[in-house]
Amino acid sequence: MKKLFSSILIFAISSTTVIADSDKDNGENRGKPTLPSPSNARWKQECGSCHLAFAPGLLPSASWRKIMDGLGEHFGTDAALTTQENGEITAFLVNNASTRWRAPSAPLRITETYGFKRKHHEIAPTLWKRPAIKSPANCAACHTGADQGDFEEHRVRIPR
Ligand code: HEC
Ligand code: HEC
Repeated sequence: MKKLFSSILIFAISSTTVIADSDKDNGENRGKPTLPSPSNARWKQECGSCHLAFAPGLLPSASWRKIMDGLGEHFGTDAALTTQENGEITAFLVNNASTRWRAPSAPLRITETYGFKRKHHEIAPTLWKRPAIKSPANCAACHTGADQGDFEEHRVRIPR
């Protein structure tokens, strides 16, 4: 009887943890991009030349608008485009942006979002600095399907 009681108690505790966990979600938990992740030739070429072309479903539309409005000073580089190119890529990103975002925030970095930090909380700060990784923004170093917008756990391989 005592044993039964304690397993009921454990169940009760773990289910409240789950509820408390989603309460802590501040609305920046956009989940994963929908698969197959949409693509656009110009986006792939322009936004994939310096780093991975980040799947549009990773940020809300307000973030993409801010990023596309500030390409002249983009994280210390100049990534400016012609008005036509900018218009085409902005439309692609905004039309395929995260629809699960409930927070009023519009971060410029995926890596600074609550959802990102939460999904990677087990990764030690020193690991991000490994030569084969260099930056948390280097998704493809660990997510072997990142270029198709696939961030499923089973496709993660952490390089040594
Ligand atoms: C000239 C090089 C260059 C081009 C072109 C470029 N970027 Fe970047 N981008 C950078 C650099 C550098 C960073 C910072 C990377 C880091 O912190 O590791 C960055 C970071 C980002 C981040 C934030 C990553 C994070 O930390 O979550 C986003 C989002 C982003 N770029 C979107 C875009 C989009 C959209 C385009 C196409 C319109 C684009 N970039 C084109 C150089 C570029
Ligand atoms: C150092 C390696 C590493 C880098 C770099 C990295 N991730 Fe991850 N990511 C992981 C690991 C490990 C997990 C699985 C955590 C777990 O076991 O729950 C994960 C989980 C995720 C998940 C949740 C997957 C699921 O099935 O629920 C998403 C989404 C994700 N990462 C997106 C990104 C994005 C976007 C970037 C780049 C901006 C990135 N990650 C960069 C290692 C990394």
